Amino acid sequence: MQYFTLLTAGLSLFFASGASAAAFGSAASLSACNNEVVASETFIGKDHNVKLTASHCGAAPHVSSHGTLLNKRQSNSTSVNVCGAQCNTFCFNPSGGGPNEDDCAVIADAILYDEQNVGALFNITAAGTATDKITMQYGSCLTYFLNQDSEQLTYCRSDWSSLVTWLSGDCNAANNAHGGLCVAADQTWYIQVQHS
Ligand SMILES: *[C@@H]1O[C@H](CO)[C@@H](O)[C@H](O)[C@H]1NC(C)=O
Ligand SMILES: *[C@@H]1O[C@H](CO)[C@@H](O)[C@H](O)[C@H]1NC(C)=O
Repeated sequence: MQYFTLLTAGLSLFFASGASAAAFGSAASLSACNNEVVASETFIGKDHNVKLTASHCGAAPHVSSHGTLLNKRQSNSTSVNVCGAQCNTFCFNPSGGGPNEDDCAVIADAILYDEQNVGALFNITAAGTATDKITMQYGSCLTYFLNQDSEQLTYCRSDWSSLVTWLSGDCNAANNAHGGLCVAADQTWYIQVQHS
């Protein structure tokens, strides 16, 4: 899947030249989830060692497709399938304190394991509901999917797995970063990879 390389024009050049993704814009260097309320917690993967949490942030760090903080969106309909949607990558600079890529690989594998054994798709409830944030954590690596839209989204596990691999590598210390995020071009969601 090449969806996450389809960045905006400037970012595409960065990628094509083999350089790292863009540095994070004017939003907080690493989005913080304040007053998080956990709705459920379980363990996934072949070895049941990747922690999966569904939660809601009292103050959610919403991000625009330009990497700036986003005001809350209003929306209309029901569940929207966003598999394969383009997203723009932003890395958190500088290097130091990022997740161990091997730990992120365990999460990417666990998501693929679930894809094969649970299903290709999963739903994330609308922004503002109790389970609008889905987090996976193993060792030093943490990734989460945040629904920024006021409607339910459906996403592909294989896409999330690919993004964990992509972000943990392209936003690693060698690229002067300590994690990053990919925000949907239409700003309805983003996936972040960071130190747990
Ligand atoms: C719902 O919102 C989406 C954009 O978020 C828009 O494309 C669509 O046309 C809207 N549907 C209705 C019924 O208003
Ligand atoms: C997602 O939610 C819709 C209803 O809004 C449902 O039809 C569908 O089965 C759900 N998909 C999964 C993977 O849970």
